[in-house]
Amino acid sequence: MTGDRVLVVGVGRIGAVTAVGLAHLLHAVTGVDTDAERVAALRQGRLREAEPGLRAALKTALRLRQLRFERSVAPGDFDATVLCVDTPPLPSGEPDLRQLMAAGEFAARVTGRGGIVVTRSTVPPGTGDRLEAALRAAGRGDLRVVHVPEFLREGRAWEDFREPDRVVIGANDERAGERAGRLFDGLDAPVLRMDRVTAELAKYAANAFLATSVSFANEMADCAAAFGADVERLFEVLKADRRIGQRAYLVPGLGFGGHCLPKDAAALEYVAATRGVVLRQLRATLDVNRERAGRAVEWLEAALGGLGGREIALLGLAFKPGTDDLRASPALRLAELLGARGARVRGFDPLVRVAPGVMVAGSAGEALAGATGLVVAHRADWVRAVEPAMAAGLMCGRVVFDAPGALDHEAWTAAGFTTNRCRMVAAGAADR
Ligand SMILES: NC(=O)c1ccc[n+]([C@@H]2O[C@H](COP(=O)([O-])OP(=O)(O)OC[C@H]3O[C@@H](n4cnc5c(N)ncnc54)[C@H](O)[C@@H]3O)[C@@H](O)[C@H]2O)c1
Repeated sequence: MTGDRVLVVGVGRIGAVTAVGLAHLLHAVTGVDTDAERVAALRQGRLREAEPGLRAALKTALRLRQLRFERSVAPGDFDATVLCVDTPPLPSGEPDLRQLMAAGEFAARVTGRGGIVVTRSTVPPGTGDRLEAALRAAGRGDLRVVHVPEFLREGRAWEDFREPDRVVIGANDERAGERAGRLFDGLDAPVLRMDRVTAELAKYAANAFLATSVSFANEMADCAAAFGADVERLFEVLKADRRIGQRAYLVPGLGFGGHCLPKDAAALEYVAATRGVVLRQLRATLDVNRERAGRAVEWLEAALGGLGGREIALLGLAFKPGTDDLRASPALRLAELLGARGARVRGFDPLVRVAPGVMVAGSAGEALAGATGLVVAHRADWVRAVEPAMAAGLMCGRVVFDAPGALDHEAWTAAGFTTNRCRMVAAGAADR
């Protein structure tokens, strides 16, 4: 059986994974993007983002001519057009659908007769209806829109494409749903079929749930600190409950960030309100999250007796460990707040070369050298490998705010450091 001719529109973080993944499922895939540099890099098998396994898979797909990248394509060539453009937040929280609607216009021009348009971007409930109406207005009433949300974790994108927990197919038309399902044939995962609006809402609900568990974890960490309880053991108890699970987002830190959880939680709150539904728990989740970085700054200011002119080392810059994505990073929010109070921030993250508001050092040691205070944002092996004796030798001061409880509190205290009692006074960046 030969695969379908698939066009992926927008080959950014999600689109690149989708294009490579569908090529590996033996479809003939073309990726297009308005960003000429991105297209040129992908054609040569180069990827900006740090995603283990994806570069090798991209190169294989290019070599086998299963995948190509173009700036534009001829009309009529494609059985399915998959939209992976961004749906960023407007200041109100409302998702900005301009990229998506423009990509829809493009799909109207190039998708073959009777084809399907698949939305892979995260979209508010009702977007498929809007897109189908726009397709009809463009004379393409033959095209059906199917929503197939993407649930992958950044930093594990290739693994998650190949081994998803589920494939969700949201279609109002049975045949279109079957055709969309066929695109993902070959993945060993349960296929959950539903109508389109349910699939659209399900993606938002999944991210809102994850965001809520991070804010819950942070409030429990505060509670544990107040009672002198060990938050790590506490979360072990919760995770051992099969109704919660080992992979639950129960890790204290600076709060959730990245491109999805903050924007999707805010978007859900916004779109629900347009139908008169007030999501109080989600509001609390967002409020708890917004406060985390500020609380860390307050603790440091008190511990250091002021922040003006202080040099602060920051370990971990991306929104979570294992990715280079700086979008809505809680560590950068913290750096911004420190900078506003006169501190200078020197940071390190093995996957990040440049970050706004931070002098990026070439190593953890270089970030620590001469620092008065240290902030740990990531719970990662390279952070745990920093020896307190080495840090004491390099730093001028002895103050550490360890947001995720990455360090051995006893060893750092024994080396003369004042810490926020590590896992006790937590603030929330889980490894997700
Ligand atoms: N990043 C994640 O982990 C993740 C996970 C699941 C879902 N999503 C969703 O996927 C969508 C995309 O996110 P992303 O992180 O890949 O964004 P991104 O900004 O990395 O990629 C979007 C790409 O689309 C291109 N583009 C914009 N308009 C275009 C057009 N008209 N024609 C062709 N290309 C166009 C841009 O140049 C860019 O390369 C969002 O809706 C996001 O919520 C993201």
